[in-house]
Parts: sequence; structure tokens; C-alpha cells
Amino acid sequence: MSTGKIIVGLLIAISFVIGLSLGYSNANTLVVTQAREGTGYSGGYDQRSDEKLNGGDDRQQVADRSGRTHVVENGESIMDAVNRAEPGDTVQVMPGTYYETVYIDKDDIHISGVIRKGQRATMDGRDELNDAILYSGNNVVVENLKIVRYKGNAIMGQAGNNFEIRNNIIVDTGVYGVFPQLGKNGIVEHNVISGIADAAIYVGMSDNIHVAHNNVFDSVAGIEIENSRHAIVENNFVHNNTGGILAFVTPGLPIKTTYDVIVRNNFVVDNNTPNFGAPGSTVAGIPAGTGILIMAADEVIVERNIITGNKTAGIIITDHENAPNVTIDPEADSKPDRIMLLDNLMANNGYDTIQDLKALMLTELKQGEPDIVRVGISRDSCIINRHRYVTVGVDEWQECDFTHTRDIDTYLLDEPVPPREIPASEKGKVAYLSICTGCHTYTGRMIGPPVQIIQALYMEDPEGLADYIANPVKKRDDYPEMPPQDYLDAETRMAVARYMLEVEN
Ligand code: HEC
Repeated sequence: MSTGKIIVGLLIAISFVIGLSLGYSNANTLVVTQAREGTGYSGGYDQRSDEKLNGGDDRQQVADRSGRTHVVENGESIMDAVNRAEPGDTVQVMPGTYYETVYIDKDDIHISGVIRKGQRATMDGRDELNDAILYSGNNVVVENLKIVRYKGNAIMGQAGNNFEIRNNIIVDTGVYGVFPQLGKNGIVEHNVISGIADAAIYVGMSDNIHVAHNNVFDSVAGIEIENSRHAIVENNFVHNNTGGILAFVTPGLPIKTTYDVIVRNNFVVDNNTPNFGAPGSTVAGIPAGTGILIMAADEVIVERNIITGNKTAGIIITDHENAPNVTIDPEADSKPDRIMLLDNLMANNGYDTIQDLKALMLTELKQGEPDIVRVGISRDSCIINRHRYVTVGVDEWQECDFTHTRDIDTYLLDEPVPPREIPASEKGKVAYLSICTGCHTYTGRMIGPPVQIIQALYMEDPEGLADYIANPVKKRDDYPEMPPQDYLDAETRMAVARYMLEVEN
């Protein structure tokens, strides 16, 4: 070999090393982005291309509120008034204490508490009743109530669309506070919710949701967007929970995705409350001190929040594989992809973090207290101004090509969507999706046992299952009681029993 070749070889080698180090230093160059001046987010939801909305003429209008008003005085029953009400009517509940559960299975019912000299219409479950309000009607409004001491839910929606839940004070109502399940186009705003053993606001399997201006505290999860799409969570005060704001794909549910969620302008502060979730449940796996938790959800934008004092970390992004209390669902994508972290004010997070995160920081030779942590795989995610935070797992993320979402006001629709059509043959399925999956997933433990276990028990006995749900008895020491579903008629109970026995994921 001639010396010429050796020199050429050396030069190539040297330029390779220089190239490497250049590449390396590029990756570490400080990129400072001015969010005020940048481009707006061009993704998100466009109602013109929502297939579920096309074929517009069957769109129904919300009845105008020229209907009758049924006044409920202290000592009377709200349920009686709802029974008398026609679609379009308002049930006006006067200050007083009401010990009951209210079922709303018609459309356009407006429940409105009257607040007089600070006294509210108060629904009190006295730790005996399961639910305060269950609605399956569309265009239902629930406002200005105080709801205390129930064991299940304060306000649960079961497949109702176009709901408005606002200005309620909810304290200690069991598993969930406000829980719209399987709804489209709904708003949850200006509620004050505390003392909830799972999620204070739990948006389940829903679309086009706006959660704003709520004060949520002393609960296990503050606000949870689960298996839902096109949701904006903004201007909420989320403090002193175990975990503040969650965007999840929970495995084992019939609807398998969460995407297009904007979490912006919230205060997410001091969420360090010890976890008091039902042992084994998904939320029981959340480490106390978690500000925002993104698990397997896609296209989540986190922007302009004030995230402080959360002792484990400010933002945790994880796949299912690395999350505790999660059973993998082969049909759900377990990875949180296209996560977009824009400017947030973060300080004093991660000051007493968990061992796992400390170990993770060591692998990147990172020091300090973690604001942002990514665990497991997350593809095509981006961040701006990463130098402001202590981070783990996001060094390789690209810069976002936009800096704000100011151009998006809301994902609520201009016009109400029609009610979900439920043919007789689908009764069981809709009841399963809108009720049972609030507590049962197919593969794993949620509040109740996995559906797979129930199938093994009842495969030959749908009648036995239908009887059980009308009148459940306590079976398992390590689970809570199941609330009776006796408000469902016998036919629906049988249909849902058959459906539960035949579902496959
Ligand atoms: C609020 C939560 C919740 C909801 C909603 C719920 N369940 Fe349950 N379910 C539970 C819990 C908790 C248990 C375990 C009870 C026990 O073992 O004592 C359970 C147990 C069961 C069992 C097991 C019975 C046995 O013999 O072991 C069946 C069957 C069942 N649920 C069916 C249903 C159906 C069908 C629905 C929907 C109509 C439903 N559940 C809705 C919480 C719930």
C-alpha cells in the first residue's frame, strides 16, 4: 500500500470523526424558540371531514328552552319531576337536601339547581347510594348542584351526546366524579370536584370534548382523558391529587385509541397525595407526585401549563410495557406517538422522585430533579425549548415545527350531533360499552374483575349473569362491591349479559 493511500485513508477517517463530532454537537446546540412568533399547529380536528357528521339533514336541533319548568322544592323528589318532564323541559331544583338517584333516559332535559344566598340544591347519597345522576339521554344539562357522599359516580353519562355539565360542587362521590362515557360533543366546565377514589373528571371513550375551568383536587386522578379523541383540557386548576392530568389508552376497552388531545393553560400543582385508588386498578399504579401522565395516547399537545411542585415528575410519557398495573392489549397500540411538548412553566418537580426514574436519569448521566420523563418507546414526538427543563428520554426528540395552538378554540361542534341510534340488536353492546366498561376491561383488573374471568364463570349461564347484575352480592374480598344495575330493564340486562359473554377483546 502506498503512503498516498494511507494518507487518503487517514483523511477519510479523520473527516469521519469530525463529522461525528459535528453531528454530535449539532444535536446539543441550544435551540431557543420564541413561541409568540412561531407557526400555529396545523393538525387537529376538522369537523368538515368528520364522517359521523355528514349527511347533515338528520341533524337535530336542541329543543329550545321554551318548554315547561318543573320546580322541585326541598322534601320533594327530583326523579319524580324528571319523570313528568318532556324533552325541552327544565327541572329546577330549589335549595335543600335530596337523598336519591336520578336517571335521565330522555333527551333535552335540563337539571338546574337554584343557588339562593349561597345555599345549593344538594344531592346527598349518605354513603349508601351509588350514583347521583345517570343520564343516557342526549342534550342533557346538569348545573349548579352540590353532590356529596355517593359510592359510585356523581354524574355519569351513558352514551348521551351533546352534554353540558357545569358549575357543580362534587365531594366524595366514590369512584368517579363527572364521568361521561361514550358521548360525543360535550362540555365539562366550572365544576369543583374533590375526594374521588379514581378520576374526578373521567372522559371515557368519547369524542369532541371540552374540559375547562374546573378546580379538581384531593383525588387519585384529577382529569383523565381515556380512549377518547379530539379533546381540549384547558384553564383547569388541578392540584393535590395523586396524578394531575392523564391522557391514556387503557388496554382491554372496546374502543382502542386516544389521540388529538390538547392540554393547555392549566395549573398542575402539588399533585403529591398518597394513592388511595382501589388496589390493582389502573390508577392505583400512578406514583404520587405525577403532574401530567401520558400513557400510550397519540398526538397529545402540552402547552403553556404551569406545572410545579409535583414530586415524582412534571410530565411522564410512557408506553404500556413500562407502566405498572397494565395488561397488554394486543389490539391497542401501546406506544405514545407524536407527543408535542410546547412551552410550559415547570419548576420544583421531581424533588422526591421514585427509584425507577433515578435509575433512568443515571443512564443518561443526568443530574437534578426531573421535569419531563419519557419511558419506553415514543415515535415522532417533538419538543421546543428543552433547555428549560430537566429531562430524561427526550434528547433525541426533534424540534416541533409549530409553537402554539392559538388557532384552535374548541373541538366542540357547531351543531349538536344526532343521538346515537341503538337498534334492538345493539342494546346489549351499547349497555356494555356505556356502563360495564366503566369498571371492567377485557384483559385486566379495573374496578371490577376482567371480563375474561367473568366469561369463564358464566359462559353457560347468561341468565345467572343477568340476575347477578340486578342484585350483586359481594364475592371477592379484595374488590369493592359492584353497584346494582337494576335500573336497566330485564331485557337490557339479558342483552348485556349475552354481549359480555361473547365479546372478544
Ligand atoms: C362501578 C363499577 C362497576 C360497574 C359499572 C359494573 N361492574 Fe361488574 N363488578 C364490579 C366489581 C367491583 C365486581 C366484583 C364484585 C365482587 O367480587 O364482590 C364486579 C363483578 C361483576 C361480575 C362477577 C360476578 C361473579 O359472580 O363473580 C359480573 C358478571 C359483572 N360484574 C357484570 C357486570 C356487567 C354486565 C356490568 C354492566 C351492566 C357491570 N358489571 C358493571 C364493578 C362494576
